[in-house]
Amino acid sequence: MNRQGLPGDRKPDGSDKKEKKFEPAAPPARVGRKQRKQKGPEAAARLPTVTPLSKCKLRLLKLERIKDYLLMEEVFVANQERLKPQEEKAEEDRSKVDDLRGSPMSVGNLEELIDENHAIVSSSVGPEYYVGILSFVDKDQLEPGCAILMHNKVLSVVGLLQDEVDPMVSVMKVEKAPLESYADIGGLDAQIQEIKEAVELPLTHPELYEDIGIKPPKGVILYGEPGTGKTLLAKAVANSTSATFLRVVGSELIQKYLGDGPKLVRELFRVADDLSPSIVFIDEIDAVGTKRYDAHSGGEREIQRTMLELLNQLDGFDSRGDVKVILATNRIESLDPALLRPGRIDRKIEFPLPDIKTRRRIFQIHTARMTLADDVNLEEFVMTKDEFSGADIKAICTEAGLLALRERRMKVTHADFKKAKEKVMFKKKEGVPEGLYM
Ligand SMILES: Nc1ncnc2c1ncn2[C@@H]1O[C@H](COP(=O)(O)OP(=O)(O)OP(=O)(O)O)[C@@H](O)[C@H]1O
Ligand SMILES: [Mg+2]
Repeated sequence: MNRQGLPGDRKPDGSDKKEKKFEPAAPPARVGRKQRKQKGPEAAARLPTVTPLSKCKLRLLKLERIKDYLLMEEVFVANQERLKPQEEKAEEDRSKVDDLRGSPMSVGNLEELIDENHAIVSSSVGPEYYVGILSFVDKDQLEPGCAILMHNKVLSVVGLLQDEVDPMVSVMKVEKAPLESYADIGGLDAQIQEIKEAVELPLTHPELYEDIGIKPPKGVILYGEPGTGKTLLAKAVANSTSATFLRVVGSELIQKYLGDGPKLVRELFRVADDLSPSIVFIDEIDAVGTKRYDAHSGGEREIQRTMLELLNQLDGFDSRGDVKVILATNRIESLDPALLRPGRIDRKIEFPLPDIKTRRRIFQIHTARMTLADDVNLEEFVMTKDEFSGADIKAICTEAGLLALRERRMKVTHADFKKAKEKVMFKKKEGVPEGLYM
């Protein structure tokens, strides 16, 4: 029993243990954070009573001041940030403008202003464009017809060209008077007098023409054989006159682009009008003034248009009182009759080949500075039957001087003159320079 009882005894022991093991642990009173004591909504609203009351009010005041300062600072910083990008943008714009100004810009014409920021422009090549005007262009100075700078790709108006005078025209103005004067012209007294009457007198004494009651001629045309002193006389006029002298060669009026030739003529006369009283001298007018035929090529037609513009300017719908025109040519018969009809160029001054007296005078003029030997007899050349022009005489004198120079002689002899004359006459008859086809 005992033995039996022993395990039996143990059993309750073991069962006791087992019972202890399975006993569940006491559950925790609460899970999660420790909870505060619940005070109720009125507890939060209630201000704690602070004992030294006035001291705390002072502190509040102080804190409020600090808050004000902080607010101001915030606004300041915000503004700073808002303004900063604008400055940067302006800087960027400026550099862009500099870029624009630095790159090549095309020059064009302002045709029409559409509104504040848009315009129609054209350049000498190609069609017209509707483009924007950049904000920094002074819009008060923009007017239709003025020269403008355009961006080379988008063609927007970038700037304004201040002096709208065509550079071609400003070159034509004779700034330095030529050295030739009336004294350097041999003979041609009648021609000198006529050009003075027709060109200089109306500019200096317009009242004389008014008294008589006639309109002074608009201009003269000088014509005659080559080398008879037409250009020389014009130079002498330029030398002696106080009026502005504009000098053009006919071939200069022929331009590359359509419409540029007539424009140049217009510009020329406008400048002449601005600087009046003035004299416009167009040498070798046959380059543009030939008779009008049925022109087939575009170039010929353009030359004719240039001449028509010249006619228009001479007719002067706008009065050109103080502008006189001198034309020169050696082929007057090929000029368009319209150019020469009375009312336009009605004074025709012929330059004949020099007669004996004139020849003598021209020889005197051209040998005046040369050292001549005693045996020189210029009369022989003066009285010769050959036809000389003034230019031939000058050539003979120069040639004789060169011959003497070749032999290192200080004086020019009669033989030099003889040789020189033969040479000049030979070249003239042949029409080709000696030695060209040898
Ligand atoms: N009457 C003259 N008196 C003095 N020199 C003269 C005279 N005629 C011509 N000459 C001389 O001949 C040169 C050429 O003359 P000019 O240039 O005036 O000819 P042009 O009549 O204009 O000829 P072109 O019709 O070929 O243009 C002058 O530089 C000048 O030295
Ligand atoms: Mg000439």
